[in-house]
Amino acid sequence: MNIVSSKYDFDKIIDRTATESLKWVYPRKVLKVEDAIPMWVADMDFEAPPVVVEAIRRRADHGIYGYPLVPPSFYGAAIDWLRRRHGWEVQKSWMAMTPGIVPALNYCVRAFTKPGDGVIIQTPVYFPFYNAVENNGRRIVRNPLRFDGRRYTMDFDDLRTKIDAPGRMLILCSPHNPVGRVWTREELEALGRIAVERDLIVISDEIHHDLIYRGHKHHVLAALGPDLASRTITCIAPSKTFNIPGLSTAAVVASNPDLLKKFEDEAERAGFELGQVFGIIGFEAAYAHGEDWLDELLPYLEASIDLMEKFLEARVPGIRLIRPEGTYLALLDCRGLGLEPAALNDFFLKKAHVYFSDGATFGKELEGFVRINFGCPRALLLEALERIEQAVKGLCQ
Ligand SMILES: Cc1ncc(COP(=O)(O)O)c(C=O)c1O
Repeated sequence: MNIVSSKYDFDKIIDRTATESLKWVYPRKVLKVEDAIPMWVADMDFEAPPVVVEAIRRRADHGIYGYPLVPPSFYGAAIDWLRRRHGWEVQKSWMAMTPGIVPALNYCVRAFTKPGDGVIIQTPVYFPFYNAVENNGRRIVRNPLRFDGRRYTMDFDDLRTKIDAPGRMLILCSPHNPVGRVWTREELEALGRIAVERDLIVISDEIHHDLIYRGHKHHVLAALGPDLASRTITCIAPSKTFNIPGLSTAAVVASNPDLLKKFEDEAERAGFELGQVFGIIGFEAAYAHGEDWLDELLPYLEASIDLMEKFLEARVPGIRLIRPEGTYLALLDCRGLGLEPAALNDFFLKKAHVYFSDGATFGKELEGFVRINFGCPRALLLEALERIEQAVKGLCQ
């Protein structure tokens, strides 16, 4: 598939090294591999939609950046987005702003569980899920995903055995980072039935829900039924969708006023109150006017997946792409290279000058894997793949 963007130039290479970018500065300046291509932390190397840049520029030109009062249009833009893109009817009174989804996960753990309680996560998973549980003195209860060598699925039998008391909490990653699954309606309904039967509170992190590829559909967990909605807090954000995570503005949605109140009380105890001027502007502009940008981004990313898959199959058979159904992140199964798992990421950095996320950071299940962030111009992706090919050839010499 060869998509030519008509309006937005995702091929444009933009130098980010002169900015404070964590993604670029860390491998180059801290790890000191000066020409490393960074393909780790989850932001993309594309400019945000011009409507977002313009809205922020207009606000910046005003010159006074005092405390904001979140306008109703902020929530209105998210409500319209959720209706249009996800068929989910949400009310403003169900929503609360948060400085990010990671802070929201931490507030939820503190709001809905007690020290020592178990919190279920479906491993391997985005590592801040572990931190949100452990840093708050709660216990991680693992419900490992099943892997058939190509695709991950949930293990419901195991999940049932892991719920040792009512009122327990589960943190769901939907779509799932890093395994790239967009859970089907049937899978989410099966999970939902267990949650209702066994009285679980579910924190549904749906931050990647707009980044879905052809043949797959995202289902909002809380929209699957009133019993499920009343025990779910959904985390949403335009940050991954429109590449604005540094604006630190997201939202949670809970139709159960008791859950929302507990969440808000906890956020207040943590000192979060007013939000960030540019975050509020960027959030609203993206949801209100960013749709055609996203509609061009998705086929671009999908063509990059095709490129990776073909390239690796033909030229680096020791590495297999676990094809993602959503997100701009994907697992590379590198066990065929025969390297020590602990040395894998270092090999890619030192020999290929490409910096990935080490699979093991998401759970011991991913030893021998890395996670690639392919949210970058195609030429950069190709350069990274060619460097990897050369480095792998060097292993055999
Ligand atoms: C599943 C998931 N949740 C949350 C985040 C980060 O959210 P925030 O930047 O809003 O804290 C990420 C970022 O990669 C993610 O993958």
